[in-house]
Amino acid sequence: MFEQLEMGPADPILGLTATFNEDTNPDKINLGVGVYKDSEGETPIFNSVHKAEERLLQEADTKNYLPIGGGPEYAAAVQQLLYGSNHEVLTSKRAATFHTPGGTGGLRVAGDSIHKLYPSAKIWLSDPTWANHGNIFKHAGMEVETYPYFDAESNGLAFDAMIEVLSEIPSGDVVLLHGCCHNPTGIDPSPDQWERIADVAGDRGWVPLVDFAYQGLGDGLEPDGRGLMALSRAGAELFVSSSFSKNFGLYNERVGALTAVASNAEVAEIVRSQILICIRANYSNPPAHGASIVTTVLGDPELRSEWDGEVKAMRDRINEMRTSLVDSLEQRGVKRDFSFIARQRGMFSFSSLNKEQVDTLREEYSIYIVGSGRINVAGITNQNMDRLCAAIAEVLGV
Ligand code: LMR
Repeated sequence: MFEQLEMGPADPILGLTATFNEDTNPDKINLGVGVYKDSEGETPIFNSVHKAEERLLQEADTKNYLPIGGGPEYAAAVQQLLYGSNHEVLTSKRAATFHTPGGTGGLRVAGDSIHKLYPSAKIWLSDPTWANHGNIFKHAGMEVETYPYFDAESNGLAFDAMIEVLSEIPSGDVVLLHGCCHNPTGIDPSPDQWERIADVAGDRGWVPLVDFAYQGLGDGLEPDGRGLMALSRAGAELFVSSSFSKNFGLYNERVGALTAVASNAEVAEIVRSQILICIRANYSNPPAHGASIVTTVLGDPELRSEWDGEVKAMRDRINEMRTSLVDSLEQRGVKRDFSFIARQRGMFSFSSLNKEQVDTLREEYSIYIVGSGRINVAGITNQNMDRLCAAIAEVLGV
C-alpha cells in the first residue's frame, strides 16, 4: 500500500514553522504562522485563561464525553459573543451552534455537511485567501471557485470586480467571507461595502459562510462584527465559523465553533440534526478543555473584563507595530510606499514582497515570511524591527 506513495508537499504555513524551528541562527524571525507575540516576543497564556484554568482544576469532576455538538453553555457563550444579547437571530432561536476542534474544525464540519446535503453546491473563496481554505473544502468533496478580492495596484479591495462575480453566483452555492482581519491581506470591506455584499447575497440566494477567526483583533470585539451584522438580516441563512485560537491565545487547545443560522427556529433544529450526523461520523464529539475555558471566561464578569483588556492590548500592539514598520522602512530609505500596512487590520499584511525576495529573506537573513508575501505583523517586536527593516531594505536594493 505505502511503497507506491510519493512525498507530499510541506504545508505553506505550518511547514515554514518546521523549517524555522530547525534554523540555528539566534536572530531568526518568524513572521510566517499567525501566532501573536507580545513585546518580548513571547506567546504567553492570557491571565484570564490562567485564572479560568485554576478554577476548572478545582471544580471539574469528570472527563465524561461532551454531547456530539458540545454543551449548551458554550453554545450560548459563542452566540452571545457573535450577536450580543438581543439580536433577532438569537431571540428567534434560529441559530444552531456546534463546538468544534478549532475554526478549521468548524469549516470542515460546514464543508462536510454542505457537500453531503447539497452535493452540487460549490464554495467560492476570495482570491487570495488563507492557504488552508482550498484544502479543507476540497477534502470535504466540494468544488472550489474563487472571486476577486485584492487589487495589487492600490493595495486595496477589488470591490467592483468582487461584486461583479458575487452577482453571478447561483442560489445554493456558498461564499466564504472573512468576518474581519482578512487573511492574508489585512483588507476588509467598509460598512457600506458589507451592506452591498449582503444585498447581493439576498438577491442571488447564495449562502455566506463567515470565517470569523480574528474577532477583536481588528477594531474591537463588537466593531469587528460589522460584516456579520450586515449579513444577518431577518430570515437570512448563513454559517459562521468561530475560532478562539487567536483572541484567547488557545492555539493548541483547538477550540472553535460552527454556527448555522436558519430562516426560523423549526428549520434550525432540522439543520442541527443533520450537522450532528456529520460530526458523529467525523470526530464523534469535541475535546472539552478549551471550551470550558472560553465558557468560564465569558460567563464571569471579572474574567470577561480582564479578557477584554487582554484582547485590546494585542490589538493595540499590532496596530502600533504596523505604524512603526511603515516609519522604520521609510527611515531606512525605502522608497516603495508601504503606508497601506498601517491601514490594514488584524495579524496579517500582504507586504507586496515577491517570491524571490521572500526566499532571499529566509535563506540569507533567517526571516520567515509566507511565500505569498504575507507578513504576520503580530510577530514583529521593537527588538526585531531594526533587523527586519534593514533586511527588507537590502532585498529591495536600497
Ligand atoms: C495562519 O494563517 O497562519 C494561522 O491561521 C495558522 C494556520 O493554521 O495556518
